Formats: sequence, C-alpha cells, structure tokens
Amino acid sequence: MKRSRLPIGIFDSGVGGLTVLKALRNRLPRADILYFGDTAHVPYGSKSKEAVTRYALAISRFLIGRGVKFLVVACNTASALALPTLRRTLGVAVVGVIRPGVRAAVQATRSGRLAVIATEATVASHAYRREIRRSNPRLRAIETACPLFVPLVEEGWWSHPVTGMVARRYLRPVCRHGTDTLILGCTHYPFLRPALQRVMGPKVRLIDSAEETAREVSSRLRLSGLLPDAGRGRTEFFASDGPERFLALARKFLGKPIEEVTIRRVD
Ligand code: DGL
Repeated sequence: MKRSRLPIGIFDSGVGGLTVLKALRNRLPRADILYFGDTAHVPYGSKSKEAVTRYALAISRFLIGRGVKFLVVACNTASALALPTLRRTLGVAVVGVIRPGVRAAVQATRSGRLAVIATEATVASHAYRREIRRSNPRLRAIETACPLFVPLVEEGWWSHPVTGMVARRYLRPVCRHGTDTLILGCTHYPFLRPALQRVMGPKVRLIDSAEETAREVSSRLRLSGLLPDAGRGRTEFFASDGPERFLALARKFLGKPIEEVTIRRVD
C-alpha cells in the first residue's frame, strides 16, 4: 500500500481526544484515522508518570501494529509525561499537543504573561512551563490544575452555574497573574471556552491546543507528501472499556453519533 494511504493514529485517555480528532478530520477529509480512547484507565490526570507512560506505549504499539504512519498524542497528560519515551522508543513520527499550543500562545501574547490550565499531572510535570521558557525565556507563565473540569465537561455542564463558580475559583491566580493568553491545556477544556472567557474577560486570548495540533499535523503530513490525494477518509474507533459510555460521550463531544467502537484491552 502507498504510504500516503496508511492511517494516522490518535489516542487519548478517553473521549477528550475527540476534540483533536474533530479538528483533524475538518482539515484532512481524505485521511484514514484510527482513534483509541483508553477508557479502562481514564483519568490519566491523577496518575503517575510510570503508569501513563506504560499505557501510552501499549496503545502506540497497538496502533503501529494496525499500520499507522504517524501518531498523535491527543492527551495533554500523556504528552506531558510520556512523549520523550514514545519518541525514543517508537519507529514512527509522534506529535503531542503541548508544543503546538505553546507556539500559538507565544505568538499571541503581548504582555508576556501566560497561564496554562491543565490536569494535576500535567501541571506537576511543568512540561508547559518548560516549553514556554524554551521558546522565549523572558515569558512569565503560571500553571494551574483544574481537576473538576473534566467531570463537569463529561456531565455536559458546559455552561451550568456550578461550572461558572468552579471556574471563578480556579482562575483566581490566573487573573491575578495579569494573564493575557490562557492555554487550555487539557482535551476537555475547549467545551468550557464560553464559561472561561466570561471569567477572564473579552481581552484574554484562549488557546485551544486541539486546533493548533490539527494544524501542525496536517502541515507536517502535507510537507512529507503523506496525504492521500483522493477518496473519503474513514475513522475507526477503539476503546479499552465501556463501549456504551464511550459512544454516549462521543456523541456529546463530536455533536453527532458514531456507529461503532471496538473494545481492545492493550495491557
Ligand atoms: N485527556 C486528559 C488530558 O488532556 C484529560 C482527562 C484525563 O485526566 O485523563 O490531560
């Protein structure tokens, strides 16, 4: 088979990475995509680096076994904790969500005061802060964990008053920092964009890593001549547990039903 026809692999701890899938599908209508949601181990945001790296390696090997030419780590926590190991260990190109999000934020900021909101594990790793400093050591960034956001989003409470209260509490240090650019460093947070924008005010730029990652992946594939030039791309879904919940949440996240999910345990 021509290399350009091989699928792109994309994975997340669960359904959150569907935000990246959606953005990627909009840009690459002809590409075949395999999506894996590790619903047996979600959430990654409260787990150790060792555990997340082990899961990420097992899923990557499964996807590579299915012939993927390119791997997208759609999960911020897995990108923060496991990306160097995946790059060292696997024989395919791997893109995570952190660098594309940071690149867009660094371009957007005027005051040089950035903030990142993410899971506890992503914040504890300081992967975002490192990447921001690498891009420009003069930028000042704070990182804040918002662990209640993931269950609120999965509950569908995107604009519920409770979510507004939680957001005001979590974003207090972010506002005090004088932030002009806020990175949504978790797959679920784009759904809270209106609520977060209300708290931060209209002048603060919110950066959606899903959109930025899709942009990066499509431009890299295009530059390497790895995009099919005809046909309609298929998407195949895998999850490691709970097909009913996966399908119900996928419908919520994608805004349309998906027909089928195949259950695969990978550890
Ligand atoms: N996908 C995770 C992330 O982007 C959020 C959910 C989890 O904790 O697994 O960090």
